[in-house]
Amino acid sequence: MQKPFPIYPSLLAFNFACLEGQVAEVVAAGAAGLHFDVMDDQFVPNLTFGPIVVKALRPLTDLPFHAHLMVYTPEALIEPLAKAGANRLYIHPESTPHIHRVLCQVKNAGLEAGVAINPGTPMVILEPLLEMVDGILVMSVDPGFGGQAFLPMTYARMAELGNLLKRRGVSPEVECDGGVDIENIAALAQAGMTGAVVGSALFREGKPGEAVRRLQQAVGS
Ligand code: DX5
Ligand code: ZN
Repeated sequence: MQKPFPIYPSLLAFNFACLEGQVAEVVAAGAAGLHFDVMDDQFVPNLTFGPIVVKALRPLTDLPFHAHLMVYTPEALIEPLAKAGANRLYIHPESTPHIHRVLCQVKNAGLEAGVAINPGTPMVILEPLLEMVDGILVMSVDPGFGGQAFLPMTYARMAELGNLLKRRGVSPEVECDGGVDIENIAALAQAGMTGAVVGSALFREGKPGEAVRRLQQAVGS
């Protein structure tokens, strides 16, 4: 049987009064991992949570935990997130003058290293980093909030990233983050997305577990 298309539910869309049940539901439905949006109210205009939530959910599943760091001085969170049980950290090059150093620190902490890139940042900034990353998070909205409209410019950016990856001969996981739903997931997969972060669309109709399965099916898995 074909492996289901990787869906990474974004906790930002969950009800924090009943996180455990909702996490159990998406895990049972075959989610590929969980996406933790860590925001500092400085790099982005919103404040969320940190390692404490990663730690609280860690005993519930062995699935990979990806933390998306929308914070300045991301290096300060590497150790705490590693201790809490995160598996991969997505770092924004826009958040630090030393993206290469921070990615090295992530790897030295025994974690997978990922880069996240804002819609307004030229893709080419990733070029020197492509060999060292396990994942690339292509922001398909301006980060800070769930439930925003998907930016159609993402398709052109995915094509640009595809060319860079081909030229370097590397194939990290490529996830889109923001506004991904049943309408655009198949086209994004066609454009080179190999995993999807999904928040609000999981709750748009029915239950998040069913939504995970429907999104997987929409990509033909
Ligand atoms: C936005 C976050 C996303 C967001 C996705 O800043 O990085 O992970 O929660 O949520 P939706 O799918 O609702 O756009
Ligand atoms: Zn995110």
